[in-house]
This record gives sequence, C-alpha cells and structure tokens, in this order.
Amino acid sequence: MTNQLILVTGAAGYVGSHCLIELLNNGYKVVAIDNCMNAIETEDVTHHTIMPESLRRVQTITGHQLVKYYKVDINDRKQLDTIFNEHRFEAVIHFASLKAVGESCQIPLEYYRNNVSGAVTLFETMKKYAVKRLIFSSSATVYGYPDYLPIDEKHHTGRNCTNPYGRTKFFIEEILKDLCNSEKDWNVVSLRYFNPVGAHDSGEIGEDPQGIPNNLMPYIAQVAVGRQPFLKVFGNDFNTNDGTGVRDYIHIMDLASGHVVTLDKMLSESDSGWEVYNLGAGTGYSVLDVISAFEKSTGVQIPYKIFDRRSGDVDELWADIGKATNQLNWKPKRSLKEMCAHSWNWQSKNPMGYRTNNRTEMKSKPVTQTNQQITIKGKSIQQQQQEVNNNDMDMVAYE
Ligand SMILES: NC(=O)c1ccc[n+]([C@@H]2O[C@H](COP(=O)([O-])OP(=O)(O)OC[C@H]3O[C@@H](n4cnc5c(N)ncnc54)[C@H](O)[C@@H]3O)[C@@H](O)[C@H]2O)c1
Repeated sequence: MTNQLILVTGAAGYVGSHCLIELLNNGYKVVAIDNCMNAIETEDVTHHTIMPESLRRVQTITGHQLVKYYKVDINDRKQLDTIFNEHRFEAVIHFASLKAVGESCQIPLEYYRNNVSGAVTLFETMKKYAVKRLIFSSSATVYGYPDYLPIDEKHHTGRNCTNPYGRTKFFIEEILKDLCNSEKDWNVVSLRYFNPVGAHDSGEIGEDPQGIPNNLMPYIAQVAVGRQPFLKVFGNDFNTNDGTGVRDYIHIMDLASGHVVTLDKMLSESDSGWEVYNLGAGTGYSVLDVISAFEKSTGVQIPYKIFDRRSGDVDELWADIGKATNQLNWKPKRSLKEMCAHSWNWQSKNPMGYRTNNRTEMKSKPVTQTNQQITIKGKSIQQQQQEVNNNDMDMVAYE
C-alpha cells in the first residue's frame, strides 16, 4: 500500500469523485480541492461540517477519510500557496474545469479564464513547490472531426476543434508540452476521455448534471426516473447500421482505474516529459443500442422521438485504446449492460441527484477569485430544467 499524498482538483465532480474511490481504495492519501461551482454542498448538522455531498459519500463508501478538503478556486494563487505549504504532494490530478460545450460558445472568456488561466496558476504553483508530476483530464474533443477511425493518439489535435471548451483542453495540452520541453524534470500525462458513463456500483455517487442533461446516458436515466418526458434522438440518417450516431462509452469506474494505473506508473518509474493516452472502451455503440441496452438491463421503457440531426455531428467515433492497453496494462472491464444498470441504480436511488439526502443543502455561492464566475448551483429545479446544460464532448451523438 502506497500512502503517497496526491492533490486532486475538481475532486467533488463526476469524474473526480469516482477517481477518489479508486485512489483511496488503492492506498493513496488525498487532499481534495473544489470551488463547488458544479458541486452540491451539504451541512452535517451533527458534526457542523459543510462539504460537497459527493465527497462525504466517497468517504463512507471507502471507509477512508480525505487528508483534507479545501473549498478553493484553482485561480486563487494565495490559497494554493497555503495548501502547497501545508502538504508535500507526490503528484497532482487536475480535473477542475468548466465543461459545457454549448455554454463555452456563449461565454468563451469565462472558459479561458477558468480552465486555461486556472491551469497555468496551478502549474506555476506546482513548479514553485517542485511538484512536477501531473495527470491532466483531457478530452477526445481535442481531436475535432476524425480523419480516420478508430482515433489513436497520433491523430492531429486542435485543428478541427469545434468549440472554446475543446480549445481550452487543446491549449492546456500545448502549454504542458512546452513546459515539459523547457524543464526536463516534469512528468505529465494527458488522459483523453471519450464518453464516461455509469456510476459506482453502490449507487451512492454518480453523474448529477444540473439542468437538462445533454449527454445520452444521464438523459436516458432522467427519462427513466420521470424527470424528462421522453428522449430526443438527433438524427436517424447517419451512415451507421441503424442510422443513429455511434460513440465510445466508457464506464466511469474503468476510467477511474485508468487514472490509478497511470499514477502507479508515474510514481514507480523515472519517466519524464509529456505523454498521452486515450481512455475509452475501444468500441462504438449507437444511440439505439444504448436505449435498448438500458431497457434490457433495467426493465424500464424509454420513450424517444427522432429529431433532425444537428450540424457537426459525425456518423461514428470511437477510440483506439491500444496504447493504454499496452503501456499501462489497462483494459476497460465493464460492459454496456453494466454502464446502464449502474446509471439506473444511481438515478433511481437519487432521483434528484445529490439533492436527495438527509442533510441540509447549502445555498452558499461557489468560491471564486473574482465575482464574475457563473453560479451553476443554487437555482430551483424548475429553473435548472429550463436550461440546457451541454456537457463535454461536442461529438457525442446525443447532444
Ligand atoms: N464528464 C465527461 O464527459 C468528460 C469528458 C472528457 C473530459 N472531461 C473532463 O474531466 C474533468 C472532470 O469532469 P467532470 O465530468 O467530473 O465535471 P464536473 O463538473 O462534474 O467536475 C468538475 C469539478 O471541478 C470544479 N471546478 C470547476 N472549476 C473550478 C475551479 N476554478 N477551481 C476549483 N474547482 C473547480 C467543479 O465545481 C466540479 O466539482 C474536466 O476537466 C472535464 O473537462 C469530462
């Protein structure tokens, strides 16, 4: 067992919270940072503590406590200084980000400031305290429209990016490459995620999109639980077997284990420089495949209506995961059936996400360095449901 201390930014989010389970179960110690702009905080009235509900549940599921949780914005250099002064980290896993593709087209500057400036502030602080191992949450969005399939890591990036969100990921990767070229003692890995779905099999934590979900699986789960009347399927005239778009879905716990094997390798070998791996399932499923798998594994019917396809949606997209399989000795283990069953387990146990709990939900604002950050939380459910929350992945069939 390792006992090495890892700093995790954006720890309370969907990917962060599931990764924490794998980290804690594998013996890592974790300091967690989140500014709660996309996380529900709750108050434990018995212990007088306020923290993201997802992190409370992670501690309960694993039986391990976080070393510390800080409600901090990664743009806040002073606070980061305090944290790096208090702890000696072996590595950083950087999840904190805004991630809504559509929103990024409306407020690009917010995205560049939060994601790119925030990342630079974090990297500068890491450099100052000589913490030079980093895992960065990247996205298949950096590939843009694919020139060939399956997409491997050699596919060009940036050129075909279709939105500011994707470009923030591309720019940060470029910044990290420059950094690794200029200082040879950095060890940085970008993990390019395809479409993470599902939930921890306890059903205690899961994806909790605010507003109308724009990714397929949480939308299906919300239709199943009655929060949405039907599923909108955009296009049935794609050049695929059944006419609906084909994408690569990866179970969130497989994605989480991909982080732990990357970290294990990073800490056990003296590699340096910038490296990149695709994390996907390496196979594609159509929208109708996913609906049918969900219905079969849960017994719940999903009403859907076909709408026109949206401009920019590609026919098919899936990952070549050979590099991660060979070099990280990692393979996704969970089937589409499990992705559906676990999404449903989480959604049916928590119809309103983290709002369904026996603690008091906090109405406090997210901490920010300036007052300009958009407040995603703290709105009524009705308000939220009138909004469209375009999640990550501009090339997802459903979006
Ligand atoms: N979920 C996906 O489909 C997907 C796909 C590809 C890549 N990614 C990337 O994975 C990472 C995690 O995504 P997620 O789905 O868990 O998103 P999420 O919104 O659930 O989690 C992100 C967390 O970061 C926090 N955060 C945002 N800005 C912050 C800041 N300035 N300071 C501190 N905390 C901040 C939010 O409050 C939130 O809890 C992101 O970098 C995202 O771009 C996600």
